[in-house]
Amino acid sequence: EKGGYDHFMLKEIAEQPRAVADTLLGRIDGAGRLTLDEVRIPGSVLREADKVVIIACGTAFHAGLIAKYAIEHWTRIPCEVELASEFRYRDPILNRRTLVIAISQSGETMDTLMALRHAREQGAKVLAVCNTNGSTIPRESDAVLYTHAGPEVAVASTKAFLTQLVACYLLALYLGQVRGTKWGDEIHAVVRELARIGDEVERVLETMEPVRALARSLAHKDTVLFLGRHVGYPVALEGALKLKELAYMHAEGFAAGELKHGPIALVEEDLPVVVVVPSPKGRSVLHDKIVSNIQEIRARGARTIVIAEEGDEAVVPYADHLIRIPATPTLLQPLVSTVPLQVFACELATARGNEVDQPRNLAKSVTVE
Ligand code: F6R
Repeated sequence: EKGGYDHFMLKEIAEQPRAVADTLLGRIDGAGRLTLDEVRIPGSVLREADKVVIIACGTAFHAGLIAKYAIEHWTRIPCEVELASEFRYRDPILNRRTLVIAISQSGETMDTLMALRHAREQGAKVLAVCNTNGSTIPRESDAVLYTHAGPEVAVASTKAFLTQLVACYLLALYLGQVRGTKWGDEIHAVVRELARIGDEVERVLETMEPVRALARSLAHKDTVLFLGRHVGYPVALEGALKLKELAYMHAEGFAAGELKHGPIALVEEDLPVVVVVPSPKGRSVLHDKIVSNIQEIRARGARTIVIAEEGDEAVVPYADHLIRIPATPTLLQPLVSTVPLQVFACELATARGNEVDQPRNLAKSVTVE
């Protein structure tokens, strides 16, 4: 049932190109228009929404953090992202013009379910992004956009995360389309790239052997830090979460701009620091800033593990280890930059003798608050 793989997690990492393609299937037409009529939310609700609030937990929360960048950039609707477990306890401001997006692989996470019930009680419309047909969260929502990752068995979420990202990008683009956002060249390029992103994920998977070797060489370490900016920041958080839950190592993700406000004090000789580098084109200011962050931590002895686009030569002199990913539109980069971090955590867990599919103290579906 593991299809020749040692662990379900490895199988599910390998299934990501297909999972991504399946989640896109039938949702973009030949003219590059979004066809999400299955999301039966009246157009008036989508047009009149004045705020989007995303609620989720764990890895799904990280997908939500990335979705915020896409929703605000493409639709100009303000978007908040909140941990479902915190949401209802702070008396959030919700009304009929609030569109709530609840992201959940299992559709059974109690924290997310309680948050969505609270949102509906306040009159908000709730749209679920979910991987499990007929589960509780979509049943209790006003509408649902299913991810088509297929069953995810390993406790650590991998293919579900990539498909949550795809679903959120589709939703953001659809919201823009319904609201008449100008469909400029940037959006056309994104839609085109999204339609073929599964192939890019496949290319990343084909180059993972050095990442595995690197992970094995770090098996004796206590701490790994992860840095990112813009959409690379939630990717850093996700890389750290995977390492905590699978390798039981101290791992933390930071926004690279925050380094100088405290975390840089953690950097010491030979500390592994993974840096997710934004595309050098488009947002080149951020790129330059992160390159100087890499220089700063390296000057303090860090062992830099740099994830950067093909063709990004500026990082080469400062990378102790360089992991290449294909160039993508800025907002889509997490679909390729997350993959090496999943492989890294899986291999480190194996090297440390941990049970990859069933990490200690964790359950696949968290049905208690
Ligand atoms: C991490 C992981 C968890 C889940 C979280 C939410 O690898 O799997 O953090 O993402 O428990 O679960 P769902 O998406 O089922 O609501």
